Amino acid sequence: MSAGDCRIVVLISGGGTNLQALIDATARGDIPGRIVGVISNRPEAGGLQRAARAGIPTAVVDHTAYPDRERFDAALAEAIDAWRPDLVCLAGFMRILTPGFVARYAGRLLNIHPSRLPRFRGLDTHTRALAAGETEHGASIHFVTEELDGGPVILQSRLPVQAHHDPASLAADVLRTEHVIYPLAVRWFCQGRLTLREGRVLFDGRPLTEALQLDELDPAELPA
Ligand code: GAR
Repeated sequence: MSAGDCRIVVLISGGGTNLQALIDATARGDIPGRIVGVISNRPEAGGLQRAARAGIPTAVVDHTAYPDRERFDAALAEAIDAWRPDLVCLAGFMRILTPGFVARYAGRLLNIHPSRLPRFRGLDTHTRALAAGETEHGASIHFVTEELDGGPVILQSRLPVQAHHDPASLAADVLRTEHVIYPLAVRWFCQGRLTLREGRVLFDGRPLTEALQLDELDPAELPA
């Protein structure tokens, strides 16, 4: 990866507001790189229009057209590799990936998950957080490993769960924080500050003993 030209491929399944945050951050110059392609497993995903509007090439690899996960993941990898990415970002990509796929992109595959991992892996995180009586909730950026939502966490947001929250309003509040933490983590990756070594996150060459917290960062870390 040459400085300033981190090639990013984004995988989506839905509306793509996190994709939009990444598009906007690259356009502002906050991320020293560019999104070279967007792939959806659903032809109707709204995020495909967001990419097209930004002039980013898109592809659809429809999971329903493949008999099993192995063959879907092989087709997905072929589509990804055609764009020669330095980084692959899962942004609301709602498919479970095979170990072979995860290994192929080890150390250059990021995911955003709408909870403070390891709390609430899997689906329906906001409903489950409310049911559990959580006092705070948020989102996590992590390197993807074979374990579902189990890879080492890089950066998290948090917000207080309030009496007025229902799953939809909590999801909306968390989503706004996702749009801050994903571009930030991608910026660090593209700056070469973030690596995965032997299952641990190195930030500026030092192992992270715990996830970074958005609300504890030095303000100098945030883009101007
Ligand atoms: C986001 O909340 C993201 O964290 C979540 O899907 C939503 C996608 O929204 N991802 C997962 O649940 C992954 N397990 P978007 O399409 O507007 O970015």
